[in-house]
Amino acid sequence: MRVTVFSTKPYDRTFLAEANEKAGHELTFLEPRLTAQTARLAEGSDAVCAFVNDDLCAVVLDQLTDVGVRVVALRSAGFNNVDVVAGRELGLTVVRVPEYSPHAVAEHTVGLILALNRKIHRAYNRVREHNFALTGLLGFDLHGRTVGIVGTGRIGVCVAQIMVGFGCRVLASDPCPSDTAAAAGVQYVPLERLLTESHIVTLHCPLTADTRHLIDAERIARCRAGVMLINTGRGALVDTRAVIDGLKSGRIGYLGLDVYEEESDLFFEDRSERVLGDDDFARLTTFPNVLITGHQAFFTEDGLHNIAETTIANLSTVEHDGPGAVPTAALVC
Ligand code: NAI
Repeated sequence: MRVTVFSTKPYDRTFLAEANEKAGHELTFLEPRLTAQTARLAEGSDAVCAFVNDDLCAVVLDQLTDVGVRVVALRSAGFNNVDVVAGRELGLTVVRVPEYSPHAVAEHTVGLILALNRKIHRAYNRVREHNFALTGLLGFDLHGRTVGIVGTGRIGVCVAQIMVGFGCRVLASDPCPSDTAAAAGVQYVPLERLLTESHIVTLHCPLTADTRHLIDAERIARCRAGVMLINTGRGALVDTRAVIDGLKSGRIGYLGLDVYEEESDLFFEDRSERVLGDDDFARLTTFPNVLITGHQAFFTEDGLHNIAETTIANLSTVEHDGPGAVPTAALVC
């Protein structure tokens, strides 16, 4: 298949080229994001390969169909950036990577929890300046604390297992409870109770119309005073302005983010020479108890290897056996 790969970084090229050695698809690597302005660059391709901040709205899907594209291969698990209804109407096949390394994201989540709690990001800077004072670095034992996990799919279950291992009491909310989580000792409760009782709340549900701003001002007000909120799911699961107010009032005592509502204009690029135009993001970076990473939770060798392998396998299956042969979990439409 002729495939135009959008939002290519050097590591994408390396891992996709390696996975493609035997499959022999004709890959064209492009650096720009897929948007209405760049969609026509895919002219002559059978497929496009897209990442989390590529725009696959109805207009873009329409443009892609116009230039001959019939397959969209997402190299991500989330597909909130795809207008699935439009894709279906246009007869496009959209495939994704349902699971590549839930451990990568879960371990990064726990990394944020540990770093925020023990202020490792601040300690690192202090020690570099030969400031060995401990004042301001006080943490708390995770052992015995309550962790609330919103969404116990592949990633949420891994987080639950790790936190059970730390000796935490783990609560969860999910419309489809997991037997694995329950067997690990996780207790399912309604979201409102989870928020009231948890010292740490971590989000692992997909972004949909129902979960957009799941954590808003009203829900923040229900949380324990000084709660630690972690979001490695998708930015818009939380209402950023409400979170900023929660940080200012002290209701939120710690915030760890790997995703941000408006990240598509920020993340994955070096913007250190430019003026930051996003005032909400700028405000978030002023809080000492906020730790943000730029959507890197998936970014392990194992994760990238599996993403590339599944993406290439998805393309080969569609080409040789048709969309019906793609595993159900990988077929978006
Ligand atoms: P999954 O599909 O295995 O699990 C999602 C779970 O959320 C399911 O059990 C589902 O029932 C549950 N859920 C749906 N609506 C809910 C609600 N309103 N409240 C509570 N639970 C709800 O997905 P997986 O693989 O665990 O990934 C979760 C999310 O993590 C993805 O949708 C994606 O947005 C994000 N992600 C972030 C990455 C990063 O690098 N930061 C990398 C990979 C995924």
